[in-house]
Amino acid sequence: MKNRFEIEFSALSQNEAFARLCISAFLLPLDPTVNEMSDIKTAVSEAVTNSIIHGYEGIGGTVHMSAETDENIVYIEIRDKGRGIEDIEAARKPLFTTKPDCERSGMGFTIMEAFMDKITVVSEKDKGTKVTMTKKLRG
Ligand SMILES: Nc1ncnc2c1ncn2[C@@H]1O[C@H](COP(=O)(O)OP(=O)(O)O)[C@@H](O)[C@H]1O
Ligand SMILES: [Mg+2]
Repeated sequence: MKNRFEIEFSALSQNEAFARLCISAFLLPLDPTVNEMSDIKTAVSEAVTNSIIHGYEGIGGTVHMSAETDENIVYIEIRDKGRGIEDIEAARKPLFTTKPDCERSGMGFTIMEAFMDKITVVSEKDKGTKVTMTKKLRG
């Protein structure tokens, strides 16, 4: 059976926890393992945090998140209409960060890659960023 949801929320740091709760509540009926749930929540958190702190750089805006499940496959999309990423290939490298003074570790994309089966990043300068992630449960 297919199932999906779509939400929008303000680009505020308190909504990182909200996004994590949403995805976990949505996935609960699929009975993921504790590790799977934790991995997905962490990946979502990294993407949402990026939209908030890099995409909108504290100026605010709207973060859009949607997810779809098809049997045991989970698709998640997180996008913003923020400043965009100039060099996606560089941004995805471990330890790359444009905010080294902000206690960021530059490991967000690396974590998303490690915890999900596949991630794609589409971004355009001053237009925004879309991160798509897929994971097969009990895969
Ligand atoms: N949604 C986004 N909008 C604009 N820039 C982004 C976005 N997501 C990631 N980036 C860019 O990619 C870099 C790497 O992201 P990440 O791996 O999560 O590391 P960190 O967030 O610690 O800097 C960020 O420093 C930022 O320059
Ligand atoms: Mg990050």
